Amino acid sequence: MTVNYAEVHLKKSRNEAVSEKSPWIFSGAIHAVREFDEDGQLCHVFMGDEVVATGYINTRTNIAVRLLAFGKVEIDRAFLRDRIQTSRMMKEALLNGCTDSYRVIHAEGDLLPGLVVDKYGDYLVFQSSTAGMDFLKEEIVAVLIGLFEPKGILEKSTSSSRRTEGLEEMRAVHYGEVPDEVIIREHGLDYVVDLAGGQKTGFFLDQRENRRIIAQYAAGRTALNCYCYSATIGLSMRKAGVATLHNVDVSKAALELAAKNYAVNKIEGAEDEFQAADVKDFLAEMPEDFYDLIVLDPPKFTASKKTVPAAIKGYKHINMLALKKIKSGGLLFTFSCSGLVDLELFRKIIFYAAKDAGRDVRIVKTLSADVDHSLSVYHRENEYLKGLMLYVV
Ligand SMILES: C[S@@+](CC[C@H](N)C(=O)[O-])C[C@H]1O[C@@H](n2cnc3c(N)ncnc32)[C@H](O)[C@@H]1O
Repeated sequence: MTVNYAEVHLKKSRNEAVSEKSPWIFSGAIHAVREFDEDGQLCHVFMGDEVVATGYINTRTNIAVRLLAFGKVEIDRAFLRDRIQTSRMMKEALLNGCTDSYRVIHAEGDLLPGLVVDKYGDYLVFQSSTAGMDFLKEEIVAVLIGLFEPKGILEKSTSSSRRTEGLEEMRAVHYGEVPDEVIIREHGLDYVVDLAGGQKTGFFLDQRENRRIIAQYAAGRTALNCYCYSATIGLSMRKAGVATLHNVDVSKAALELAAKNYAVNKIEGAEDEFQAADVKDFLAEMPEDFYDLIVLDPPKFTASKKTVPAAIKGYKHINMLALKKIKSGGLLFTFSCSGLVDLELFRKIIFYAAKDAGRDVRIVKTLSADVDHSLSVYHRENEYLKGLMLYVV
């Protein structure tokens, strides 16, 4: 791969743009750009005459450069292979065979900004969210074929941030054949993954460990799984011997997938467990002190700073409703996947929800995405999923 690297010269006063090891350089830190051909181009970052980092540039976005490495590094197939293989080995060691499916690359968390790669059994699905990753796409596909020998590779680059980067949505099969659905295995259960139409890359891999934790408390209980999508948390509670279960989601397509999940695991006669409803309406109509265990895993309530106040209200409302419906001695597993609502703010929201519900609530565990969703110590921005396990006295 022959590449002309653009030159990004930093302002003298903005040394911290690289010294603090953040993978992002904002446009305000840049003094000049030279040898520039196009957005998405690879670049070298200069402090004075010295190349201090290597990444890719987009002149349209506030995050002007995303870094791939510190120092002067050749970004070629060997570099990408090394990055992806390092990440793969780490994830496989950490997951220790509990599943055939995991997040191979979690963007900045695995030092490949703008790229997500998920492995679903014999198939790979990737998402590029930046012009720079689009530029490296063919090389990445070649590396993935070599390392994983998959049956197929699907691109599902549909994130809204592509618009800011000046990119269209992209869905394409880059290698082999990719079926609409595949069945994956996790902690002894089979799950149907809707590769073609499903949310995210097809499945919520991030909730893997939380599915296992929640199931530990489900036996003999009356439980409610809100925003259930394909009812993976419900299924793990069912396997653990939950007594009564309601799985609620507003999307009929999600509930059809949930029914398939029950079928592949040979769980019959559970049709009444599924409710197509808005969670707020469902919760409002249920009697108080009814459930032993409730899960709240809503979609992202905010993607911009402007809508954070509305998101806070939304989280508070559903948590307040849920806390009212839980029996004394019951549990609430509550999540937020909004990156802009950090754990501290989320705790505050829960404090107000508990106060308004008039319940005495203890935080007994803090939850997060599973181990394959790596986080860089230098970059807080991709810490999106947080959760609290609450005991209602
Ligand atoms: C983050 S996903 C849940 C993932 C799921 N817990 C899992 O582990 O697979 C959020 C889900 O909320 C659903 N949803 C969005 N708004 C809703 C609403 N107002 N009421 C009910 N479900 C809703 C979406 O259809 C989506 O399936």
